[in-house]
Amino acid sequence: MDRLQLGNVLWQRVFQPHLFRKDAEAAHQATIGMLVRLQGAGLLSVLRFLYQSPYVEQPGYIGRVRWRNRVGVAAGFDKHGEAVAALDAIGFGAIEVGTVVPRPQFGNERPRVFRYPDCRAIINRYGFNSVGAHAMAENLARCFASNRIRAVVGVSLGKNKDTPDNRAVDDYIDALSVVLPVLRPGRDYVKVNISSPNTPGLRDIFQRLDAFLAEFFKRASDTAAKLGLALPPVYLKIPPDMLNYSAFERIMAVSGNLGVAAIEATNTTVDATIKRQHGLTEVGGLSGAPLRELATKCLTQLNQINQLPGWHRLDLIGLGGIDSVDAASEKRNAGADAIQLYTGLIFEGPILLHNILDDWRRE
Ligand SMILES: Cc1cc2nc3c(=O)[nH]c(=O)nc-3n(C[C@H](O)[C@H](O)[C@H](O)COP(=O)(O)O)c2cc1C
Repeated sequence: MDRLQLGNVLWQRVFQPHLFRKDAEAAHQATIGMLVRLQGAGLLSVLRFLYQSPYVEQPGYIGRVRWRNRVGVAAGFDKHGEAVAALDAIGFGAIEVGTVVPRPQFGNERPRVFRYPDCRAIINRYGFNSVGAHAMAENLARCFASNRIRAVVGVSLGKNKDTPDNRAVDDYIDALSVVLPVLRPGRDYVKVNISSPNTPGLRDIFQRLDAFLAEFFKRASDTAAKLGLALPPVYLKIPPDMLNYSAFERIMAVSGNLGVAAIEATNTTVDATIKRQHGLTEVGGLSGAPLRELATKCLTQLNQINQLPGWHRLDLIGLGGIDSVDAASEKRNAGADAIQLYTGLIFEGPILLHNILDDWRRE
């Protein structure tokens, strides 16, 4: 048995059954807790022993930074930036932490995450539970100081629930100004998250995207200049709902003009028809297998726009329902320059990352 298989047997026979006996949020906390304890006890070599393989090194420039490989862990998995060193040891090419909001907030009442093994899906309505930007910056600073992190680190920025919609940019700038000094110049990125369905009014910002992004970039550049730092590349994540081809065209045009470095497609869906098809009734964003087709459809349209003559091409990051090598290839074929995983990891474990990298190495 090789090391990856050993890791997978441990995952399937020990960790996943243990985690699946807990409710979804407790299982997630236990997973992060386990990774944090491994880091704290100086046991990252165990993860490296199980998961470091030559094909983890398949670097590529995505959104103006050098990813170690083209498979990242999506936002929401390490919400507070606590487990970056462990996720790096598992071999991800990029680790997107957050979404972080400027001031700590609890998020919505529990229960707020639901796991559906039969349809390999999750519904969450966390509502940006966050330790706040200062605590996350401390977590990242500690991690960078004591580990050599090979993966790109991205910070997903959000807004506090009680900040009025017309002052949303303030929150993105506040959070940015706190995390910017700890990011590694030229190596990391930030993401603007206006696509979560669980903060009322957030997705409506897409209706005034031009003004929002113009103000964000202006103030972000000023903030970086005041700190004597360069503004890192800015990624934008889009929702799969409410948008059609012409809306995508507008988003791509505005993003290209204002300097967005990459588009992530997509966040979770609130599509009632898809939920009904799978007999799911909880309020919140649906991720995993039932999202796959819709998210790939969005990606395909973005890719078509990218090919238009004279168009400013934007790097595309595909996510939504990737739980197999086939699903990963589907995103690549639909135009993804890189992908991110979340729900697939919950059902498949870290072997999913390695199966995908192994497959892409052969291409
Ligand atoms: C429990 C949970 C929490 C999430 N939290 C965030 C978040 O804080 N910020 C964000 O941009 N996306 C968040 N997402 C969305 C994922 O990053 C991803 O876009 C979505 O789940 C689709 O990918 P998947 O089907 O592989 O999970 C979350 C997803 C889940 C399942």
